Amino acid sequence: MREHENDSPNILVADDSEASRDLLETLLRAEGYSVACAEDGQEALDALRGQRVDLALLDVVMPRASGFDVCQAMKAMPETRLIPVVLVTGLHSAKDRIHGIECGADDFLKKPVSKEELLARVHSLLRIKHFTDELESAESVLFSLALSIEGKDPYTDGHCKRLASYSMALAERLGLSEELQVALRRGATVHDIGKVAVPESILLKPGPLTLEERTVMQQHTIVGERICAPLKSFRHVLPIIRHHHEKQDGSGYPDGLRGAAIPVTARILQVVDIYDALSTNRPYRQALSPQDALGIMREEAKRGWWDESIINEFEGVLQDQLFVQTA
Ligand SMILES: [Fe+2]
Repeated sequence: MREHENDSPNILVADDSEASRDLLETLLRAEGYSVACAEDGQEALDALRGQRVDLALLDVVMPRASGFDVCQAMKAMPETRLIPVVLVTGLHSAKDRIHGIECGADDFLKKPVSKEELLARVHSLLRIKHFTDELESAESVLFSLALSIEGKDPYTDGHCKRLASYSMALAERLGLSEELQVALRRGATVHDIGKVAVPESILLKPGPLTLEERTVMQQHTIVGERICAPLKSFRHVLPIIRHHHEKQDGSGYPDGLRGAAIPVTARILQVVDIYDALSTNRPYRQALSPQDALGIMREEAKRGWWDESIINEFEGVLQDQLFVQTA
């Protein structure tokens, strides 16, 4: 197996036929790409672990692991799921094509490979990969910023991670689309990102905030929405950021929305956010038991703050995940 030696896009070519491998490698190197070759499916999977790969050209019928298997494994792993996969195949049946699509393949090439077709597909998929990489790095900057804010307060350690796990489970239980579940996972980390604009003297103040300080603090919902607005992939995250402090009776902020007018994703996040605050240690009190925390939340729901139906579903999630001892 040969690996790439410079910064040009690196293409993984996996084929058990030496002649096919050599042909693809020669055509791609002539275009200035780096090429890593693998002689079978297992070697392709090993190659993905040891280096950056920007595109994978996988033969379908290979020893140890087929192109379908490798593609499926790549699309299941967070580190490799965004690498475009082209299945290079001598199989022409619609059944194989459908199977390839089900495994997550981005494109297909028929053997014998035509040079023009190969290069056209490679160029276009690498262009998409480049945009995806840029988007990923913008997202990771936002996540790092959000986590650095969390890091300012030792009592919120691990808070975002727990919120992501609770809210995804709750969203799934409520039958929300996968798109909204992903938005909740992101929202769990970035919902308080606007606190970057709140001075530490207010953010970490141990006592109650003055009216003026409270106004500054409340701006974090609007500032956070503004920070994340340029990212199109965050369009379903923005309502979570803006509305996670609304209350059912309209007494929340920033827009005083009521009941079902508050986006369901924001209602989910606020329920898990409050639960996590109550069930972990704080400077002013010890962590409450899950039952006590849920009890307080139900009282607050009766006062018109939170959506009680979501609290009920959340209790189901806690029981399912054995966060709570069932009777
Ligand atoms: Fe907040």
